[in-house]
Amino acid sequence: MIDTHSHILPAIDDGADDLSESIGFVKKAAGQGVDTIFATPHACDGVFNSTKDNILQSCDALTDALNAKGISTRVLPGAEIRLNHDLVMEYDKGNLLTLNNSGRWLLIELPAMFMIKAVSMMIRQLKDRGVTPIIAHAERNPMILNKPGLISDFTYNGAVIQITAASLSGDFGRFSMKAAKTMAVMDQVFCLGSDIHPGRRYRMADARKKLIRLLGRTKADMITHENPAVILEEAENLFCKNQGLP
Ligand SMILES: [Fe+2]
Repeated sequence: MIDTHSHILPAIDDGADDLSESIGFVKKAAGQGVDTIFATPHACDGVFNSTKDNILQSCDALTDALNAKGISTRVLPGAEIRLNHDLVMEYDKGNLLTLNNSGRWLLIELPAMFMIKAVSMMIRQLKDRGVTPIIAHAERNPMILNKPGLISDFTYNGAVIQITAASLSGDFGRFSMKAAKTMAVMDQVFCLGSDIHPGRRYRMADARKKLIRLLGRTKADMITHENPAVILEEAENLFCKNQGLP
């Protein structure tokens, strides 16, 4: 499985406190069948403003520490970027870290209240630049819970939807659980993220079981592996192109 949202980098946001906690999260993920984790610290959220350079360096350091311990789980860089007025401008300046630094996928957290038209416009502006926004934990957003039709607006404009694994187990309340299941049944979910923080349970394996029960194995595989694998393939293709490789 591929976990597309986590706070496992040490002492960079409200995620792992130190390297041993980071390694503990990765071991938990590996034990649940996760082979690739995107480390996505909070960025632009007014409290935690991790920068692209900090995240890339921290991700490399964690990878070195994992290698030294013989842990083969891949940790790839990313960021959970809070929606803000300057988001597209900051992207154009090269300040926002896309998933795997590929310039193709941006993980975006919507605030509790937002202007619907502004979000739709931001999605279209990013798509014009070849970037697909991934809307983080859509099932936990109060405006989306009140108006589930927003999901279709966002996907129509070109975004994809991520839900939190633990929402399917009810860890974020029954409304989010119901919304997550409904989105899954309606084929609106592109990928899963643990959004792991200290104090939360790592639920990727539970989520996979629940998705299999709800949708069958083929669709569960798409959400937990095949869809997010496209993020990696595009990154690898881009790397080859940049290196002049076939
Ligand atoms: Fe998060």
